[in-house]
Amino acid sequence: MTFPVQRPRRLRRNGAIRALVRETTLRPEQLVAPLFITPGAGRRKPIHSMPGHAQLSVDLALDEVKALWSLGVRSFLLFGLPEVKDDEGSGAWDPSGPVPTATKAIKDALPEAVIMADVCVDEYTSHGHCGVLHTRHDGTVDVDNDATVERLARISLVYANAGADVIAPSDMMDGRIGAIRKALDANGHEEVILMSYAVKYASAFYGPFREAAECAPKFGDRASYQMDPANAREAMREVALDLEEGADIVMVKPALAYLDVIAKVKAAVNVPVAAYNVSGEYAMLHAAAQNGWLDLTRTVKETLLSMRRAGADILITYHARDIAEHL
Ligand code: PBG
Repeated sequence: MTFPVQRPRRLRRNGAIRALVRETTLRPEQLVAPLFITPGAGRRKPIHSMPGHAQLSVDLALDEVKALWSLGVRSFLLFGLPEVKDDEGSGAWDPSGPVPTATKAIKDALPEAVIMADVCVDEYTSHGHCGVLHTRHDGTVDVDNDATVERLARISLVYANAGADVIAPSDMMDGRIGAIRKALDANGHEEVILMSYAVKYASAFYGPFREAAECAPKFGDRASYQMDPANAREAMREVALDLEEGADIVMVKPALAYLDVIAKVKAAVNVPVAAYNVSGEYAMLHAAAQNGWLDLTRTVKETLLSMRRAGADILITYHARDIAEHL
C-alpha cells in the first residue's frame, strides 16, 4: 500500500480537533473501585504498600463509596477480612461477614450502586490458599478443585442473598462458573451477573494485595491454579470455557503486563471485557510519584487509557479515587 505524502499533524492542531478524532474514552462509570472490608466500626488500617488505601470497617467503607459516587464512580468490588481464619475459610460464607454486611449497607444508602463481590477463600483460610487443601496420591499438598467449587457456590449464594449485583470468582478452579450459575439460578438469582476472573495469571504484581487482604500463602505458591505468565493461547481456552459455562463478563488480570492478552480476548468474544489494574501496578506509580519521578495523574490516565485502547470495557482499579475527578 502506498499513500500520498500527508500531514497527520492537521488532526492535532488544537484541543477541539484532537477531541473530535479521539479514538478511546475514559469515563468514571467505566471504573470499578476495590474496597477491603473489616468487621467492626470506626476502623481504618492503612495499607502501607498501597498509599491512600486502607482496610475499612463497613461505616467507613460507606463514606468512601459515597465520596467515589459523587465523583461519578458507580461500581465497587468488595473483599472481606474475617475476624478469624480457618482451614476451610468458613468466614467467607458467613451471612453476617464483612462482605454481605457492607453490601446491604451500601445498597440501603445507594440502591443503584453496582456491588461486585469477589468470591474466593484466600482471605479467609489460615493457610492463605484459594481453596480447600488435599493430599495428592504422590504425597504433595494441593488445592482440591471440586471441594473448593462446592464452597464457592455456597459463598456466591450468600453474597447474592445480601444483594450483590455481580459475583466475581477469583479462585481459578475448573468448572466454578457453571456450578455457581446453577446454584444462583436454582435459588431465584437468575438476574445476578457473573464476572469471571477468566484469565488470571500467577503474578508477582499481586504483592501489595497480599498485605491488603492478609492472604499470602503460608507455603508454596498459586502456580497450580493461576496461569503461567508465558501463556496466551491458554487464556483463550479459559475464556471459551467460562463463556460456555455462563460467564456474562470475562476479566484479564493483571492488566498492564498483559495488554496483548486483553486485545486477543477482546477480538475473540462479544461479551464485555474487564481488566484488573492490580495492586502492584498501583504501587509502582505511587512509589515513583512519591519520589517526584513521575506525574501521578498523567501516568494514571495514560495507563488506564492503554487498557481501554487494548480493548477493556471495564477497568477495575485502585486509582479510581486518584483519577475520577480528572476525567
Ligand atoms: C484472590 C485475589 C487476589 C487478587 C484479587 N483476588 C490475589 C491473589 O490471587 O493472590 C489480587 C488483586 C491485586 O493484586 O490487586 N482472591
